[in-house]
Amino acid sequence: MTDYAGRLRLGVNIDHVATLRNARGGHLPDPVRAAQLAEEAGADGITAHLREDRRHIIDSDIDRLMETLRVPLNFEMAATDEMQKIALRHKPHAVCIVPEKREERTTEGGLEVAREENKLAGFIAPLREAGCRVSIFIGADERQITAAHRIGAQVIELHTGAYCDAHAEGDFTTRDRELEMMREMSAYAHSLGLEVHAGHGLNYETVEPVAAFPEVVELNIGHFLIGESVFRGLGPAIEEMRRLMDAARA
Ligand code: PXP
Repeated sequence: MTDYAGRLRLGVNIDHVATLRNARGGHLPDPVRAAQLAEEAGADGITAHLREDRRHIIDSDIDRLMETLRVPLNFEMAATDEMQKIALRHKPHAVCIVPEKREERTTEGGLEVAREENKLAGFIAPLREAGCRVSIFIGADERQITAAHRIGAQVIELHTGAYCDAHAEGDFTTRDRELEMMREMSAYAHSLGLEVHAGHGLNYETVEPVAAFPEVVELNIGHFLIGESVFRGLGPAIEEMRRLMDAARA
């Protein structure tokens, strides 16, 4: 995703349409239909996380997304051989490597890159050779960002979860500290030549300060938008997010 021309990109994560579908079994609601509606509402990309346990997105969703999407797919996955094979078969526009724990409800933290440098460098090399932009989901931590750069990642996605949680809990000291760290680390990552994305837990209340970081070129947002679409529809929920992002950028 390199042609931003100054505009902050919005990637819509559709995992939780699949969560709802899988709660009942069957085919509805269809995450691929949600992806198409998101495209029509102005999403610049679609994000989908194929977890090892297939708790939301399943393999056939990825097949159908690759067949039908007009905007780029950001394929989120853990650094496993199984996922690498799937990514190499599909060659999505971007692959975002995330940590995955079976017992977690959602991706709780950033990837530990510094301790796994050699392994991860070998893991991402074939993905890069296949033409995928490789992104690493990471905490706002200089050591991890430096390591992500060293292993050859082109993109980092900063984990905004701790900032959003602190906001929700009314702990504004922590919230502002997290925000400041993300601000510094997005500038640092950019200075290394890394493209900077951010996401996790963002909503209408928390998006603007992150959208205002000049180095951040893409936000990936899912859970809140899918929840909000129950009340106002997916298109209007996305359009409002887009409006807030653009306002923060202006
Ligand atoms: N970015 C990454 C790398 C993620 O793992 C997730 C959650 O799957 C998101 C963004 C979106 O987070 P949320 O669904 O909380 O908006």
